[in-house]
Parts: sequence; structure tokens; C-alpha cells
Amino acid sequence: MAFPQGFVWGTATASYQIEGAAHEDGKGPSVWDMLCRRPGAIWNGQTGDVASDHYHRWAEDVALMKRLGLGAYRFSISWPRVIPHGTGNVNAKGLAFYDRLVDALLAAGVTPYVTLFHWDYPYDLYCRGGWLNRDSADWFAEYATVLAAKLGDRVGHWMTLNEPQCFVGLGHFDGRHAPGDRLNWAEVLRAAHHALLAHGKGVQAIRAASPGPCQVGFAPVGVVRIPATDSAADVEAARADMFAVTARNQWNNTWWMDPVFFGTYPADGLALYAADLPPIRDGDLETIRQPLDFFGANIYTGSTVRAGAGGQPEAVPDPVGIGLTGFKWPVTPAALYWGPRLFFERYRLPVYITENGMSGTDWVGPDGAVHDAPRIDYTAEHLAALGRAVDDGVDVRGYFHWSLMDNFEWAEGYKERFGLIHTDFVTGKRTLKDSALWYKDVIAANGANLSAKR
Ligand code: FCB
Repeated sequence: MAFPQGFVWGTATASYQIEGAAHEDGKGPSVWDMLCRRPGAIWNGQTGDVASDHYHRWAEDVALMKRLGLGAYRFSISWPRVIPHGTGNVNAKGLAFYDRLVDALLAAGVTPYVTLFHWDYPYDLYCRGGWLNRDSADWFAEYATVLAAKLGDRVGHWMTLNEPQCFVGLGHFDGRHAPGDRLNWAEVLRAAHHALLAHGKGVQAIRAASPGPCQVGFAPVGVVRIPATDSAADVEAARADMFAVTARNQWNNTWWMDPVFFGTYPADGLALYAADLPPIRDGDLETIRQPLDFFGANIYTGSTVRAGAGGQPEAVPDPVGIGLTGFKWPVTPAALYWGPRLFFERYRLPVYITENGMSGTDWVGPDGAVHDAPRIDYTAEHLAALGRAVDDGVDVRGYFHWSLMDNFEWAEGYKERFGLIHTDFVTGKRTLKDSALWYKDVIAANGANLSAKR
């Protein structure tokens, strides 16, 4: 197994999860600042007010990235830090933070991959209807223009939205994430349509405003099905199920991806949701479908499917006692083979794994180190599977481990630690975990030292 020359080895984070400084230097509130104040919403009443304190410790964090030899760093920008009310006045101090960060990354030899929206929606826009308001798409394009104009001379890789399934579905249907609403399904689909429109207008805005050349992508949740065996029937069953819309919930691929890559909503979804469809105006799907340079997939786990009676997809339960992460997500390395392969076969764009990783019960031991052997196993096995996809002709360009450092894990607060770097949330101290030192070697060897185990 060999990763191609120039394969991008990175890590990922998101603004609200690491920055802290929630009310500093002119930043406006986001829906996450609001939700964190709602009693019972977040584990132990925790908030992102301080988080990993990256807003103040960014120089130290960039130095750590350099020490690991990271080729790239995927981070997101806080919309209300840059535009406090979401639209209108730009906060120079907020913009300057990202400007400095980009300069420091480049000086450290780390290529910035910028996500424009990773869930911290401006609270003032929420009060104007949020994603239910069709103007959201234009507000987002305005924000994208500001960023691309400012950073586009140095940032060449952009992603519009992170995981619309989550911020729309978990945020507006399940109510577990910000803004914490439980709308009816028609309203959820309306918010989803506006988010997809924002993606399309955002892509147009980035390309129009960027002074330098740029590559633009999208980073949805990759809902992955793993065929029970390599037989053609099982592979087709897994493919059919992975690209089907079968339930009134957000956990599918095609409702969110087909409009973006094909300019159509999937026929099975249109039939299933017929009574709840959003108002789709002429030209909307053309706007949503913009030419993109890459497909970003966030993949943590997958579920197994086989061909049942008549070849119909049939779920195969996980084996009893399967490995589980701290979050209790099943450990299924084959997801990093089948996910990229089936997405590439359908959408035909170069793939980046924009997130992959696991939460663990990590702590600093008496020797001052963090011995997170499960994270090393998890990552080694997932990368081996990804390498096999590369061997089989899937055009995979890069891998971003989630996460660079322990951070605020949304509704779970600080309970779930995903970092390669341990964060002491009381003192802010960073400690490289064993997995970080291991990843450093993987990067240096361009993956050649990984076992071929699947
Ligand atoms: C993804 C999110 C990311 C992080 C990981 C664990 O769904 O994009 O912010 O919370 O899960």
C-alpha cells in the first residue's frame, strides 16, 4: 500500500469547539452561545466560552502543528466573530485573528483548508428566521465574499458547509444541537433547502471574490454502508442502501448531496417527502449545483448491509462485543474503504476525508504522557482501509484527522476527547498524546509504515 505523492496529511477543528473568547473583541453571539445557556442542553452545563482557548493560544497550536509535520490544517471560521450581526458591519478584530492564523500556518509550512460554516450561526440572524428564512443564502454569500476577498490571496482550499445533516437535522428536528428547535418535517426540509442554496451561492461568492486560484468543496456527513462480503450482490445492496432515502430523518446521503453534485433531489426522497416538500423556485437547483473541485467526507463509522431476498438491502447487526469508542460508536475500519469508494463511483470527484477519528477516555498519566493506544489502532486500521481504496483506484487526495486537540464536543461538552493533543481544560496546557507522535511518523513516511491490515 502506498499513498500517492503529495497526499495531504492533516487534522481538523471547528471554531466554536476550540476558540473560546466567545464574547471578546467584538464577536457577536452564535446559536451555540445561546443553546449553551439553556438548562439541561449540554452535558454538565458546559459551554464553549473558553473551550481550548485557541483564540489566545493559536501561536502555540501552530507551533505544535509544525512539530507534527502536518501538511494541512482544516479549521472553520466563526461567522459572528467576523460579522457580529451576521450581515452588515465587519468586525476588523475578528477578521484579523484569521488573517494572522493563516499567515502563521503558511510560515509553518501548513496549508490552510478553510470551512466557512461549522455550525456557529449568528444569533441575530436566527432571530430573523435563521435557516427558515430564504435570505440565509444571501447572508451566507455576503459572509463568504468577505472571507474570500480577505484570505483568498493565501487560502486556496475552501469548504462551504460542514455536515448540513447535523446542523439542520440535529439542530432543527431533534433539537439536540443549536439552535435546539424541534420543527415539523416540512420546516426542516425548508431549512435544508435554504442551506443548500447557501452552499451554491457561497461557492459562487468564493470564486468571484477570491483574488487567487481556489478549490472549493463541500463536507457533508458520509453515511456509509459496508457490504457484508465482497460478492457483487452484497456490494450492490450496500450501494443501493447507501444512496437511498428511506426515512423521515436527516441520516441519508442523497437528499443533501444529489442537489449539490447532480442538480436534482433524489426521486425516492421526493416521493417519500411529497407532502412536505419545500418551495423550490425555478433556478434553485442550478444555483445549488455549482462545479466543485472535491468531495469532502466526514466518516467515523459504517453499518453493514447484505443482499436479502430478491437482492434487497438487509441490515446486518454488528457482531456482539464489537469495539466501541468513548461515544459508543462502533469501530468499523472498512467504512474508510467503502465510503470513499462508493462516493467516488457515484459523484466522480476527488475525495478528501475531511474528518475521521474517535473519542477516548484519555488522561495524562503519572509519567506526564497520554497513552491512547486505541486511537493509534483506530487510525492505523482506518488509514489501511483508505490506502486499499487508493490501491483500487479511488482518487483520494487527503486525510484530516478529527481532531487536532481535545475540544468542546457540542451537546456532550468536554466529555468526549477526540484530540491527538490533550487539552487540560482547567489550565489550557497541551500535551501531545502517543497518537500525535505516532501520526507524526505516519506523515513523515507518507503512510508507508502502516500495515496493510483492513
Ligand atoms: C462531527 C462534527 C465535528 C465533531 C465530530 C466528532 O459530526 O463535524 O464537529 O463534533 O463529529
